[in-house]
Amino acid sequence: DSKAKTDKTEGGLRLLDPGYQNTAVASSEVTFVDGTEGSIHYRQYDISELVGTKQFEDVTYLLIWGKLPSPEEKEMFKKQLALAMHPPQMVSDVIHAFPSNTPIVTMMIAGLSAWTGSDPTVIPAYMGKNIYQGHLDLVDSQIIRLISALATVIAMSFCRMQEKPFTPADLNGSFIENTLRMMGFVEDETKKPNPKHVECLEKLWVLYADHELTNSTAAFLHVASTLADPFSCTIASLTAAYGPLHGGAIDTAFKVIQNVGKPENVPQLIDDVKAKKCRLFGYGHRIYKTVDPRSVIIRELLDELKDDDAAHKEFLATALEIDRIASEDQYFTSRHLKANADLYGSFVYMALGFPPEIILPLAMMSRCPGVMAHWREAMNGNPRLWRPQQIYTGAYH
Ligand code: ACO
Repeated sequence: DSKAKTDKTEGGLRLLDPGYQNTAVASSEVTFVDGTEGSIHYRQYDISELVGTKQFEDVTYLLIWGKLPSPEEKEMFKKQLALAMHPPQMVSDVIHAFPSNTPIVTMMIAGLSAWTGSDPTVIPAYMGKNIYQGHLDLVDSQIIRLISALATVIAMSFCRMQEKPFTPADLNGSFIENTLRMMGFVEDETKKPNPKHVECLEKLWVLYADHELTNSTAAFLHVASTLADPFSCTIASLTAAYGPLHGGAIDTAFKVIQNVGKPENVPQLIDDVKAKKCRLFGYGHRIYKTVDPRSVIIRELLDELKDDDAAHKEFLATALEIDRIASEDQYFTSRHLKANADLYGSFVYMALGFPPEIILPLAMMSRCPGVMAHWREAMNGNPRLWRPQQIYTGAYH
């Protein structure tokens, strides 16, 4: 019966592709992730050319507007971002209405929602035609506002969590300096963020700035295909990132590593994973069949920080032992399961003194340029509503 129903379906070829393993939903000029060769290109640049030579603002500009900025363009962009980091009062009121032990993503979602509620220009009136298509000036102003709002909401939620005051952005600061400043990560003497931390995040955030259609980027674009505003789309994206198979995997990985406790206990964990009692969180990736090129650079960063991070020595030793055993074990090698870049990136955050709860929000912040670039590209084309098909296999009368 179900066959009779599907056979009647019109509209061309329909493939059953659970999890979109083989289905492209958009074409894009922004980022190319080559999971077989193990390389990532932002526009025409291999990421290894950008890390350590370009700042987060440069790469954000490159992804969104297709070219590296001139010094004047970069200065102007930096100022625009810093200016947009001032939250409406309702954002602060809403975030402070939560108890400080509320999950930070919950506070961020509420904060973004309050931002849309208090600023009428965030959601432009829809008058029966695509408000964004052909109006790239509107798209661009929304992009700047959203990038800065996300950093502000993250910082404010973090301060609420830590029960400390929020510090406003400095108009002369870089994006990363301002994010750290708003979060209260400043040195006592200079009242500025530690330059070594800023330099480290510049590299990490360039590496994370885009990774084409990850689940959370696709969640953003799925909602954006209805022509919803980018703040609301970011709420969808955050919710997708929260899940344990995606960004939330890092939280789980941390708990597992903490629970394992010391390197001697790792073989038992590996046995449990191979017996399919549990998954190894922070391992595996849909795209990579070889080493994720970001992991190589992140490990170098981690090496540089290792001596400063005595507090997490045993934790890191346990994580490295997991990696050592997994990289030699046939269960993992035959399935191309390697530590993903986000797991190693989280060790960098830890070495810099960030608590685990803030890692996912910061990862979302560092990914925001890519998400915005894909959104702009979609709005610059001829966006169609995303609406996947299903194959009905139930009863039919
Ligand atoms: N631990 C143990 N086994 C695994 C893992 C893992 N982390 N990942 C995949 N496998 C095994 C599966 O059991 C399956 O084995 P089988 O062939 O014997 O059935 C095989 O590898 C293929 O797994 P799939 O689930 O089909 O792979 P898929 O591409 O759908 O999943 C995913 C990718 C979700 C990332 C998966 O590897 C996973 O669950 N990893 C753990 C969660 C995680 O770390 N997610 C973060 C990803 S990166 C990010 O989003 C920020």
